Amino acid sequence: MSTHLPRHFRFGMSTAAIQIEGASTEDGRGVSIWDTFAAQPGTTKNGDTPAVAADHYHRYRDDVEDLRASGIDDYRFSIAWPRVIPQGRGTVNPLGLDFYDRLVDALLEAGIRPVPTLYHWDLPQPLQDEGGWLRRYTAEAFAEYTRVVVTRLGDRVENWLTLNEMNVHTLYGHVLADHAPALGLGLEGFAAAHFQMLGHGLAVREIHALGGRAGIVGQHYPVIPASDEPGDIEAAEMFAALTNWTFADPILLGRYPDDTITALVTTTTGTTEAQLERDLETIAQPLDFYGINYYEPVRIEAPRSGKDYSGVLEVDVPEGMPFSPVPIENVPRTDFGWAVVPSALTDILREMNTRYPVLPPIYITESGASFHDEVTEDGSVHDPKRIDFLDAHIKAVADAVADGIDVRGYYVWSALDNFEWAAGYHERFGLVHVDRDTMRRTRKDSWYWYRELIRTNKQADD
Ligand code: FCB
Repeated sequence: MSTHLPRHFRFGMSTAAIQIEGASTEDGRGVSIWDTFAAQPGTTKNGDTPAVAADHYHRYRDDVEDLRASGIDDYRFSIAWPRVIPQGRGTVNPLGLDFYDRLVDALLEAGIRPVPTLYHWDLPQPLQDEGGWLRRYTAEAFAEYTRVVVTRLGDRVENWLTLNEMNVHTLYGHVLADHAPALGLGLEGFAAAHFQMLGHGLAVREIHALGGRAGIVGQHYPVIPASDEPGDIEAAEMFAALTNWTFADPILLGRYPDDTITALVTTTTGTTEAQLERDLETIAQPLDFYGINYYEPVRIEAPRSGKDYSGVLEVDVPEGMPFSPVPIENVPRTDFGWAVVPSALTDILREMNTRYPVLPPIYITESGASFHDEVTEDGSVHDPKRIDFLDAHIKAVADAVADGIDVRGYYVWSALDNFEWAAGYHERFGLVHVDRDTMRRTRKDSWYWYRELIRTNKQADD
């Protein structure tokens, strides 16, 4: 296992607007699909909503001070489309842009490079009402919104990420109904994959035209067949094609992984073959970097007839699919129940490096773990498991770097405890603890550990 990372390797932390900002009705912010979703009973754990979140909108100066003191190089945050263009398309809300202007200035003053994501799942509700990502219209609206933001901040922000984890947004929000916008369309929901990617391609053109550098964030993981049996191997390959490669091949290779998926996309989007070709050309814009979020691998088997998978499935899939996710055995788990397999991060980096001949420089844009941390009587938060988790995952990245894979940075998810989507505030991924009643911030042991790691690495001789 390698421990060496070059001195210029960039350490960072990540967050997303709706998970931390709160202030959901202030300064002209419009409604997002996550506000609507969380307001429905039974959608999130304990009925939690993002209305207050970590109150970062009001406390961003304190939060930036925590970021500065940690010594990180980069901070990845997201910009809330409903703050900037409340209706999704049309009138710009200057107060929304002002917030990000202040945030970017505060980060630069703190010596931190801002790396904004333009879309982290918080679509303006009015766009959803028009069909959301199931329509080409939304891709065009995203490009317009991108132009507005990059025009305002592009004099200080160089690196832009377009969308976050299109696979999770498509599968959980459109195919299934576990996340906003909770459409539960089954395979019909794959239209959202294509139009998010089209939005990405159009946005990259805008970013490049305005002199910025562009990338995207994909969630990727190795898919492990449950056995050597051909049926399981085939099922695992199919699952990997649908959840990994459908969302990376068009961007990095300009095509969908196979004919079945191409057919699925043309049918669900109502796109002609000629139009699809034009779309793929737009989607496959050259990128300046590529972000990978990694949490855990997935283990897949071909469904065994007569086996009851209820309560067994690790990942939700629509009923009747020719693959079934099953638990990974004999591994430690986070408090969220996610399997801890650091070597799988090296594996997925190797797999991507082999699959894509011209892979742009990679950043690990999210990696982290939820443990149900508490502030102890001495006022500290002891989270040794998170330290072990991060240590092992950073070493897994160093292994990939030692192989010659061009990984340039590692960002911890997350800078502070926040709204973990349908799991609400119960899951705590932060390096900084947030008290839900008082909003008081406490740096966890892992925060101090990470600061020391960054300090030491800066002294490496390369
Ligand atoms: C990822 C999301 C991020 C966060 C982590 C735990 O899928 O991109 O917002 O919630 O999971």
